[in-house]
Amino acid sequence: MRKYIVAGNWKMNNTYDEGIKLCQAIIEKGPELEGNHKCIIAAPYIHLSSLSSLMDGTGYQVAAQNCHEEEKGAYTGEISASMLDSIGVEYVILGHSERREYQGENDAMLLKKVKQVLGNGMLPIFCFGEQLAEREAGSHFELVKSQIEGVLFQLSSVEMEQVILAYEPVWAIGTGKTASSAEAEEMHAYVRALLLEKFGTEIANNSTILYGGSCKPSNADELFACENVDGGLIGGASLKSDDFIALITALQNAKS
Ligand code: 13P
Repeated sequence: MRKYIVAGNWKMNNTYDEGIKLCQAIIEKGPELEGNHKCIIAAPYIHLSSLSSLMDGTGYQVAAQNCHEEEKGAYTGEISASMLDSIGVEYVILGHSERREYQGENDAMLLKKVKQVLGNGMLPIFCFGEQLAEREAGSHFELVKSQIEGVLFQLSSVEMEQVILAYEPVWAIGTGKTASSAEAEEMHAYVRALLLEKFGTEIANNSTILYGGSCKPSNADELFACENVDGGLIGGASLKSDDFIALITALQNAKS
């Protein structure tokens, strides 16, 4: 069954105390999650263990924003998938455009990371999306296809059915400029068609494809109403409890 998800990506924001307060406000005031609706908070590493305890039994779940591609060893400053699993982390964001750009993450590294996350019983939230220049040149479908082929098409069906996808057009991230619902739906439908061709009907229909990029309460209703948009990966608006809760409610209303 397809899952509907609002996932907050705090990125490099919130001191320890700020993060705890924000998480408490979300789980105290946020709606109960029913059926196949999920809410995930992807926090910096320092928050994960505490958030996992705070969220235990609430239905809300915790994600990391990255992990290392190797199992363990001499990688100073890095965090492995098994470490994340050991503190109750359930999802890991991988392939975010900020990491592709600033940390040089490529398909080969991301495939290893996806395998680490799956191998440790967690679920990857795999991000992809084009830059402004690629959209303007009309090569956005081609680019997205290559990002998906380079990583997800290398997985078995058993692995693929656990992956959550997130389309994040880079030009819409943190810019206040959202993809229109028509642009989002067009790309999401395209991605689902790619999954259909490669993995078949069941995986294509059951895969969750999130939209990310300046998604906020004022545009969420329109985006979440799209047939192939199964929720959002939220940056800025996940840092304010009221906005984030409004997004959870918007998704519940759109996919009830
Ligand atoms: P914004 O919602 O701030 O545009 O960020 C989106 C994002 O990158 C989520 O991962």
